[in-house]
Amino acid sequence: MTGDNRCDQFLSKHRLCTSYYNVKEIVAAFLDEMEKGLTGQKSSLAMIPTFIPVPDKAPKSETIIVLDAGGTNFRTALVRFDNDSVPHIESFVNNPMPGTAKELGKEDFFNLIADYIKPVLNESGRLGFCFSYPAVIDRHRDGTLLYWTKEIKAREVVGEKILANLAETLRKRSLPCPAHMLMLNDTVASLLAGMTATAFSPDYHYIGFILGTGTNTAYIEKNSAIKKEMGLPGSGSMAINCETANFNRIDRGDIDIAFDNTTSSPGEYVLEKMVSGAYLGGLFHKILMTAAAEGVVSGKVRHMQSLNTQSLDAILSGSPDKEQYCKMCSADDLDAIQTMVSAVVERAALLTAINISAPIIRTGKNNNAKKKFCVSADGSVYYKLFSFRDRV
Ligand code: BGC
Repeated sequence: MTGDNRCDQFLSKHRLCTSYYNVKEIVAAFLDEMEKGLTGQKSSLAMIPTFIPVPDKAPKSETIIVLDAGGTNFRTALVRFDNDSVPHIESFVNNPMPGTAKELGKEDFFNLIADYIKPVLNESGRLGFCFSYPAVIDRHRDGTLLYWTKEIKAREVVGEKILANLAETLRKRSLPCPAHMLMLNDTVASLLAGMTATAFSPDYHYIGFILGTGTNTAYIEKNSAIKKEMGLPGSGSMAINCETANFNRIDRGDIDIAFDNTTSSPGEYVLEKMVSGAYLGGLFHKILMTAAAEGVVSGKVRHMQSLNTQSLDAILSGSPDKEQYCKMCSADDLDAIQTMVSAVVERAALLTAINISAPIIRTGKNNNAKKKFCVSADGSVYYKLFSFRDRV
Protein backbone atom coordinates (compact mmCIF):
# COMPACT_ATOMS: atom_id res chain seq x y z
CA MET A 1 0.00 0.00 0.00
CA THR A 2 1.39 3.49 -0.82
CA GLY A 3 1.86 6.09 1.90
CA ASP A 4 -1.00 8.15 0.41
CA ASN A 5 -3.39 5.20 0.58
CA ARG A 6 -2.41 4.41 4.15
CA CYS A 7 -3.03 8.01 5.15
CA ASP A 8 -6.44 8.13 3.40
CA GLN A 9 -7.52 4.91 5.05
CA PHE A 10 -6.42 6.22 8.43
CA LEU A 11 -8.42 9.43 7.95
CA SER A 12 -11.54 7.47 6.92
CA LYS A 13 -11.27 4.90 9.69
CA HIS A 14 -11.15 7.63 12.35
CA ARG A 15 -13.90 9.82 10.81
CA LEU A 16 -11.49 12.66 10.09
CA CYS A 17 -12.69 13.27 6.49
CA THR A 18 -15.53 15.65 5.69
CA SER A 19 -17.22 12.97 3.56
CA TYR A 20 -18.25 11.23 6.82
CA TYR A 21 -20.26 14.24 7.94
CA ASN A 22 -23.73 14.66 6.45
CA VAL A 23 -24.26 18.42 6.25
CA LYS A 24 -28.06 18.29 5.86
CA GLU A 25 -28.42 16.01 8.88
CA ILE A 26 -26.17 18.12 11.08
CA VAL A 27 -27.91 21.36 10.05
CA ALA A 28 -31.31 19.78 10.80
CA ALA A 29 -30.02 18.65 14.23
CA PHE A 30 -28.67 22.17 14.87
CA LEU A 31 -32.05 23.76 14.03
CA ASP A 32 -33.81 21.21 16.25
CA GLU A 33 -31.48 21.95 19.19
CA MET A 34 -32.02 25.71 18.70
CA GLU A 35 -35.78 25.28 18.89
CA LYS A 36 -35.51 23.03 21.96
CA GLY A 37 -33.18 25.51 23.68
CA LEU A 38 -35.62 28.36 23.05
CA THR A 39 -38.61 26.44 24.34
CA GLY A 40 -36.91 25.21 27.52
CA GLN A 41 -36.54 21.56 26.48
CA LYS A 42 -33.35 19.60 27.06
CA SER A 43 -30.81 20.78 24.46
CA SER A 44 -27.07 21.07 24.00
CA LEU A 45 -27.68 24.70 22.95
CA ALA A 46 -28.41 26.98 25.92
CA MET A 47 -29.98 29.67 23.62
CA ILE A 48 -29.50 32.42 26.22
CA PRO A 49 -31.71 35.54 25.95
CA THR A 50 -29.63 38.70 26.41
CA PHE A 51 -32.34 41.24 27.28
CA ILE A 52 -30.52 43.54 24.90
CA PRO A 53 -33.16 45.16 22.69
CA VAL A 54 -32.08 45.69 19.10
CA PRO A 55 -30.40 49.16 19.16
CA ASP A 56 -30.84 51.71 16.38
CA LYS A 57 -27.99 54.11 17.14
CA ALA A 58 -24.58 54.34 18.82
CA PRO A 59 -23.96 56.51 21.93
CA LYS A 60 -22.92 60.16 21.51
CA SER A 61 -20.53 62.31 23.63
CA GLU A 62 -20.07 59.60 26.19
CA THR A 63 -17.24 57.57 27.74
CA ILE A 64 -17.69 53.93 28.70
CA ILE A 65 -15.35 51.62 30.60
CA VAL A 66 -15.06 48.38 28.63
CA LEU A 67 -13.79 45.02 29.86
CA ASP A 68 -13.22 41.97 27.71
CA ALA A 69 -12.69 38.60 29.39
CA GLY A 70 -11.46 36.35 26.58
CA GLY A 71 -10.01 32.84 26.48
CA THR A 72 -6.41 34.02 26.79
CA ASN A 73 -6.49 37.78 27.50
CA PHE A 74 -8.36 40.12 29.80
CA ARG A 75 -8.52 43.54 28.13
CA THR A 76 -9.42 46.86 29.71
CA ALA A 77 -10.05 50.13 27.86
CA LEU A 78 -12.09 53.31 27.70
CA VAL A 79 -14.27 53.93 24.67
CA ARG A 80 -14.99 57.61 24.10
CA PHE A 81 -17.84 58.27 21.67
CA ASP A 82 -17.46 61.76 20.19
CA ASN A 83 -20.26 64.13 19.12
CA ASP A 84 -20.65 62.19 15.87
CA SER A 85 -20.85 58.82 17.70
CA VAL A 86 -17.39 57.86 16.43
CA PRO A 87 -15.71 55.57 19.01
CA HIS A 88 -12.11 56.26 20.16
CA ILE A 89 -10.33 53.55 22.14
CA GLU A 90 -8.09 54.82 24.94
CA SER A 91 -6.12 53.45 27.91
CA PHE A 92 -6.03 49.97 26.34
CA VAL A 93 -4.33 47.36 28.56
CA ASN A 94 -3.95 43.61 27.98
CA ASN A 95 -3.54 41.21 30.93
CA PRO A 96 -3.75 37.41 31.23
CA MET A 97 -7.27 36.04 31.76
CA PRO A 98 -7.59 35.07 35.46
CA GLY A 99 -7.64 31.27 35.85
CA THR A 100 -5.53 30.48 32.78
CA ALA A 101 -2.30 29.82 34.67
CA LYS A 102 -3.59 28.15 37.86
CA GLU A 103 -6.76 27.42 39.83
CA LEU A 104 -8.10 30.60 41.46
CA GLY A 105 -10.61 30.89 44.32
CA LYS A 106 -13.58 33.27 43.96
CA GLU A 107 -12.01 36.04 46.02
CA ASP A 108 -8.68 35.94 44.16
CA PHE A 109 -10.51 35.87 40.83
CA PHE A 110 -12.49 39.07 41.48
CA ASN A 111 -9.58 40.79 43.26
CA LEU A 112 -7.43 40.26 40.19
CA ILE A 113 -10.09 41.83 37.96
CA ALA A 114 -10.38 44.74 40.42
CA ASP A 115 -6.58 45.22 40.19
CA TYR A 116 -6.78 45.24 36.38
CA ILE A 117 -9.58 47.82 36.17
CA LYS A 118 -8.56 50.10 39.06
CA PRO A 119 -6.78 52.66 36.79
CA VAL A 120 -9.93 53.41 34.73
CA LEU A 121 -12.66 53.21 37.38
CA ASN A 122 -12.80 56.98 37.92
CA GLU A 123 -13.36 57.69 34.23
CA SER A 124 -17.05 56.82 33.85
CA GLY A 125 -20.21 55.71 35.67
CA ARG A 126 -20.93 53.22 32.88
CA LEU A 127 -19.19 49.90 32.39
CA GLY A 128 -19.74 47.24 29.71
CA PHE A 129 -18.32 43.79 30.40
CA CYS A 130 -17.84 41.54 27.37
CA PHE A 131 -17.63 38.01 28.74
CA SER A 132 -16.61 35.13 26.48
CA TYR A 133 -18.17 32.36 28.59
CA PRO A 134 -21.67 30.94 28.96
CA ALA A 135 -23.61 33.06 31.42
CA VAL A 136 -27.36 33.39 31.96
CA ILE A 137 -28.17 37.09 31.75
CA ASP A 138 -30.87 38.46 34.07
CA ARG A 139 -33.13 41.44 33.49
CA HIS A 140 -30.59 43.71 35.25
CA ARG A 141 -28.08 42.43 32.69
CA ASP A 142 -25.85 40.78 35.25
CA GLY A 143 -24.70 37.27 34.26
CA THR A 144 -24.51 34.02 36.24
CA LEU A 145 -21.71 31.79 34.99
CA LEU A 146 -23.11 28.43 33.87
CA TYR A 147 -19.76 26.68 33.43
CA TRP A 148 -16.25 27.54 32.28
CA THR A 149 -15.11 26.65 28.78
CA LYS A 150 -11.57 27.00 27.30
CA GLU A 151 -10.04 25.16 30.26
CA ILE A 152 -10.30 28.12 32.69
CA LYS A 153 -9.55 27.09 36.25
CA ALA A 154 -11.74 28.95 38.78
CA ARG A 155 -14.35 26.45 40.00
CA GLU A 156 -15.72 28.65 42.80
CA VAL A 157 -16.90 31.24 40.26
CA VAL A 158 -19.31 28.79 38.54
CA GLY A 159 -22.90 29.66 39.51
CA GLU A 160 -21.91 33.16 40.68
CA LYS A 161 -23.24 36.50 39.46
CA ILE A 162 -20.25 38.19 37.84
CA LEU A 163 -21.18 41.89 38.17
CA ALA A 164 -22.64 41.56 41.69
CA ASN A 165 -19.40 39.92 42.85
CA LEU A 166 -17.28 42.51 41.09
CA ALA A 167 -19.30 45.36 42.70
CA GLU A 168 -18.92 43.76 46.13
CA THR A 169 -15.15 43.40 45.66
CA LEU A 170 -14.83 47.04 44.58
CA ARG A 171 -16.87 48.23 47.57
CA LYS A 172 -14.89 46.07 50.03
CA ARG A 173 -11.71 47.63 48.71
CA SER A 174 -13.24 51.15 48.75
CA LEU A 175 -12.73 51.48 44.98
CA PRO A 176 -15.21 53.46 42.84
CA CYS A 177 -18.04 51.25 41.53
CA PRO A 178 -19.70 52.38 38.27
CA ALA A 179 -23.45 52.92 38.79
CA HIS A 180 -24.46 51.32 35.49
CA MET A 181 -22.83 48.03 34.58
CA LEU A 182 -23.94 45.44 32.06
CA MET A 183 -22.61 42.15 30.85
CA LEU A 184 -22.84 40.63 27.40
CA ASN A 185 -21.37 37.67 25.57
CA ASP A 186 -18.53 38.33 23.09
CA THR A 187 -20.57 36.85 20.22
CA VAL A 188 -23.41 39.25 21.01
CA ALA A 189 -20.86 42.10 21.08
CA SER A 190 -19.71 40.96 17.65
CA LEU A 191 -23.30 41.03 16.36
CA LEU A 192 -23.74 44.57 17.71
CA ALA A 193 -20.43 45.57 16.08
CA GLY A 194 -21.91 44.47 12.75
CA MET A 195 -24.90 46.72 13.35
CA THR A 196 -22.65 49.67 14.16
CA ALA A 197 -20.47 49.01 11.09
CA THR A 198 -23.52 49.09 8.79
CA ALA A 199 -24.97 52.16 10.56
CA PHE A 200 -27.87 50.03 11.90
CA SER A 201 -29.17 49.45 8.38
CA PRO A 202 -32.63 47.82 8.25
CA ASP A 203 -31.53 46.01 5.06
CA TYR A 204 -29.77 43.27 7.04
CA HIS A 205 -30.40 40.42 9.41
CA TYR A 206 -27.45 40.32 11.82
CA ILE A 207 -25.40 37.33 12.95
CA GLY A 208 -22.46 37.41 15.40
CA PHE A 209 -19.83 34.70 15.07
CA ILE A 210 -16.57 33.92 16.90
CA LEU A 211 -13.92 31.32 16.27
CA GLY A 212 -10.80 31.93 18.36
CA THR A 213 -9.92 30.10 21.54
CA GLY A 214 -13.63 29.16 21.63
CA THR A 215 -16.54 29.29 19.21
CA ASN A 216 -20.13 30.54 19.23
CA THR A 217 -22.88 32.32 17.28
CA ALA A 218 -25.55 34.89 18.15
CA TYR A 219 -28.56 36.14 16.20
CA ILE A 220 -31.75 38.15 16.68
CA GLU A 221 -34.86 36.21 17.68
CA LYS A 222 -38.49 37.27 17.99
CA ASN A 223 -39.60 37.44 21.64
CA SER A 224 -42.64 35.33 20.75
CA ALA A 225 -40.33 32.40 19.86
CA ILE A 226 -38.42 32.57 23.20
CA LYS A 227 -41.09 30.45 24.87
CA LYS A 228 -39.01 29.60 27.95
CA GLU A 229 -39.04 33.28 29.07
CA MET A 230 -42.38 34.38 30.51
CA GLY A 231 -43.58 37.97 30.25
CA LEU A 232 -41.47 39.30 27.38
CA PRO A 233 -43.17 42.04 25.33
CA GLY A 234 -44.83 40.07 22.52
CA SER A 235 -43.90 42.29 19.60
CA GLY A 236 -40.19 42.83 20.26
CA SER A 237 -37.05 40.86 19.52
CA MET A 238 -33.65 40.46 21.17
CA ALA A 239 -30.20 39.03 20.61
CA ILE A 240 -29.78 35.36 21.57
CA ASN A 241 -26.45 33.87 22.61
CA CYS A 242 -26.70 30.34 21.17
CA GLU A 243 -23.65 28.89 23.02
CA THR A 244 -22.92 26.63 20.07
CA ALA A 245 -19.57 25.49 21.54
CA ASN A 246 -21.60 22.83 23.32
CA PHE A 247 -23.45 21.50 20.23
CA ASN A 248 -23.18 17.72 20.56
CA ARG A 249 -25.17 16.03 17.79
CA ILE A 250 -22.07 15.16 15.78
CA ASP A 251 -21.05 11.55 15.29
CA ARG A 252 -17.32 11.98 15.96
CA GLY A 253 -14.50 9.51 15.58
CA ASP A 254 -12.68 7.47 18.22
CA ILE A 255 -9.64 9.78 18.33
CA ASP A 256 -11.95 12.77 18.98
CA ILE A 257 -13.42 10.88 21.92
CA ALA A 258 -10.02 9.74 23.23
CA PHE A 259 -8.78 13.35 23.06
CA ASP A 260 -11.95 14.63 24.73
CA ASN A 261 -11.27 12.24 27.62
CA THR A 262 -7.93 14.01 28.25
CA THR A 263 -9.64 17.42 28.76
CA SER A 264 -11.12 18.76 32.00
CA SER A 265 -14.68 18.35 30.63
CA PRO A 266 -15.17 15.01 28.83
CA GLY A 267 -18.40 14.85 26.81
CA GLU A 268 -18.96 18.61 26.85
CA TYR A 269 -18.32 21.35 24.22
CA VAL A 270 -18.21 18.70 21.50
CA LEU A 271 -18.26 21.18 18.61
CA GLU A 272 -15.68 23.46 20.22
CA LYS A 273 -13.26 20.55 20.68
CA MET A 274 -13.36 19.85 16.92
CA VAL A 275 -12.83 23.42 15.71
CA SER A 276 -11.40 25.92 18.17
CA GLY A 277 -7.98 27.27 19.07
CA ALA A 278 -8.09 25.91 22.63
CA TYR A 279 -8.26 22.34 21.29
CA LEU A 280 -7.16 21.98 17.64
CA GLY A 281 -3.45 21.60 18.49
CA GLY A 282 -4.11 19.02 21.22
CA LEU A 283 -6.51 17.09 19.01
CA PHE A 284 -3.97 16.98 16.19
CA HIS A 285 -1.28 15.79 18.57
CA LYS A 286 -3.53 12.86 19.57
CA ILE A 287 -4.16 12.09 15.86
CA LEU A 288 -0.45 12.10 15.13
CA MET A 289 0.40 9.79 18.01
CA THR A 290 -2.31 7.37 16.85
CA ALA A 291 -0.94 7.58 13.29
CA ALA A 292 2.52 6.65 14.62
CA ALA A 293 1.09 3.73 16.61
CA GLU A 294 -0.67 2.47 13.46
CA GLY A 295 2.42 2.82 11.28
CA VAL A 296 1.02 5.62 9.09
CA VAL A 297 3.97 7.84 10.05
CA SER A 298 7.30 6.86 11.59
CA GLY A 299 7.94 6.75 15.32
CA LYS A 300 10.06 9.92 15.01
CA VAL A 301 6.92 12.07 15.31
CA ARG A 302 6.68 10.95 18.94
CA HIS A 303 9.23 13.72 19.64
CA MET A 304 6.45 16.23 19.11
CA GLN A 305 5.36 16.65 22.70
CA SER A 306 2.69 19.25 22.14
CA LEU A 307 1.20 21.22 19.27
CA ASN A 308 -0.90 24.36 19.09
CA THR A 309 -2.89 26.16 16.37
CA GLN A 310 0.25 28.06 15.30
CA SER A 311 1.95 24.69 14.65
CA LEU A 312 -0.96 23.67 12.40
CA ASP A 313 -0.72 27.02 10.63
CA ALA A 314 3.01 26.53 9.97
CA ILE A 315 2.52 22.97 8.65
CA LEU A 316 -0.43 23.93 6.46
CA SER A 317 1.11 27.08 4.99
CA GLY A 318 4.10 25.06 3.75
CA SER A 319 6.61 26.27 6.33
CA PRO A 320 6.85 23.25 8.64
CA ASP A 321 10.53 24.15 9.20
CA LYS A 322 9.22 26.83 11.56
CA GLU A 323 8.19 23.90 13.74
CA GLN A 324 11.19 22.57 15.61
CA TYR A 325 10.00 18.95 15.64
CA CYS A 326 9.17 18.80 11.92
CA LYS A 327 12.88 19.23 11.18
CA MET A 328 13.43 15.65 12.39
CA CYS A 329 10.77 14.14 10.09
CA SER A 330 11.35 12.45 6.74
CA ALA A 331 9.80 13.86 3.55
CA ASP A 332 7.21 11.04 3.62
CA ASP A 333 6.25 11.83 7.21
CA LEU A 334 5.94 15.51 6.35
CA ASP A 335 3.64 14.71 3.41
CA ALA A 336 1.43 12.57 5.62
CA ILE A 337 1.39 15.19 8.39
CA GLN A 338 0.36 17.87 5.90
CA THR A 339 -2.44 15.67 4.53
CA MET A 340 -3.72 14.98 8.03
CA VAL A 341 -3.61 18.64 9.14
CA SER A 342 -5.43 19.60 5.97
CA ALA A 343 -8.18 17.04 6.68
CA VAL A 344 -8.66 18.19 10.27
CA VAL A 345 -8.81 21.84 9.21
CA GLU A 346 -11.21 21.05 6.35
CA ARG A 347 -13.50 19.26 8.81
CA ALA A 348 -13.32 22.21 11.23
CA ALA A 349 -14.20 24.54 8.33
CA LEU A 350 -17.22 22.42 7.38
CA LEU A 351 -18.52 22.37 10.97
CA THR A 352 -17.92 26.12 11.19
CA ALA A 353 -19.91 26.70 8.01
CA ILE A 354 -22.76 24.75 9.62
CA ASN A 355 -22.38 26.75 12.85
CA ILE A 356 -22.79 30.01 10.90
CA SER A 357 -25.51 28.70 8.58
CA ALA A 358 -27.94 27.41 11.22
CA PRO A 359 -28.99 30.83 12.60
CA ILE A 360 -29.08 32.21 9.04
CA ILE A 361 -31.44 29.42 7.92
CA ARG A 362 -33.65 29.85 10.99
CA THR A 363 -33.81 33.63 10.55
CA GLY A 364 -34.50 33.31 6.83
CA LYS A 365 -37.38 30.90 7.40
CA ASN A 366 -39.07 33.07 10.01
CA ASN A 367 -38.53 36.52 8.54
CA ASN A 368 -38.41 38.76 5.53
CA ALA A 369 -36.43 36.68 3.06
CA LYS A 370 -35.48 39.72 0.99
CA LYS A 371 -33.08 41.11 3.59
CA LYS A 372 -29.37 40.38 3.26
CA PHE A 373 -27.32 38.84 6.08
CA CYS A 374 -24.49 40.62 7.82
CA VAL A 375 -22.24 38.08 9.56
CA SER A 376 -19.88 39.89 11.89
CA ALA A 377 -16.99 37.48 12.48
CA ASP A 378 -14.16 37.64 14.96
CA GLY A 379 -11.46 35.34 16.31
CA SER A 380 -7.89 34.27 15.65
CA VAL A 381 -8.61 30.84 14.16
CA TYR A 382 -11.08 32.21 11.64
CA TYR A 383 -8.77 35.00 10.49
CA LYS A 384 -5.26 33.66 11.09
CA LEU A 385 -5.22 29.90 10.52
CA PHE A 386 -3.90 29.42 6.98
CA SER A 387 -6.68 28.89 4.38
CA PHE A 388 -9.41 28.56 6.99
CA ARG A 389 -11.61 31.45 5.90
CA ASP A 390 -11.54 30.37 2.27
CA ARG A 391 -12.44 26.84 3.22
CA VAL A 392 -15.44 28.03 5.29
C1 BGC B 1 -17.98 30.22 25.15
C2 BGC B 1 -18.87 31.29 24.54
C3 BGC B 1 -18.03 32.26 23.74
C4 BGC B 1 -17.19 31.53 22.71
C5 BGC B 1 -16.30 32.45 21.89
C6 BGC B 1 -17.10 29.59 24.08
O1 BGC B 1 -16.19 28.72 24.70
O2 BGC B 1 -18.76 29.22 25.77
O3 BGC B 1 -19.58 31.97 25.55
O4 BGC B 1 -18.88 33.17 23.09
O5 BGC B 1 -16.37 30.59 23.37
O6 BGC B 1 -15.41 33.15 22.67
